[in-house]
Amino acid sequence: MLFMTYDPSRRAPASEGDFLGIISLGCATENMWLMAEALGIGFHVVSSLASGSAEKEVKHILGIPDSLRIVYAIRLGYPVSGSEYLRVRREVGDFTHYNRFGNKGLA
Ligand SMILES: Cc1cc2nc3c(=O)[nH]c(=O)nc-3n(C[C@H](O)[C@H](O)[C@H](O)COP(=O)(O)O)c2cc1C
Repeated sequence: MLFMTYDPSRRAPASEGDFLGIISLGCATENMWLMAEALGIGFHVVSSLASGSAEKEVKHILGIPDSLRIVYAIRLGYPVSGSEYLRVRREVGDFTHYNRFGNKGLA
């Protein structure tokens, strides 16, 4: 299990709050996710350990300084072959627009 942390006192240039910094962490995560997939390693983002008493407890156990926040945890492991799990996906055409908002472009 990998815990991604960030320092809310350090910001990307011209970032309101931590918005751009958080987006950057998402981009870094995406690259890790793609590499894990390429290596056949399962990658499960778990945000439920990133707030409230769960975050406090994880920070205590791992000795993470109070000044840092947990972005999320990432469970890594080799998937059991043949396992099935629920996958919830919207159709791409349900949330994309072509040329003008409301025009359904992509199937
Ligand atoms: C930002 C983010 C937070 C997530 N938080 C959780 C979580 O707390 N618990 C959980 O079971 N899945 C969570 N997920 C979903 C899993 O990581 C999910 O397995 C992942 O999106 C891949 O799904 P897929 O294998 O069906 O494509 C989260 C995903 C993202 C992108």
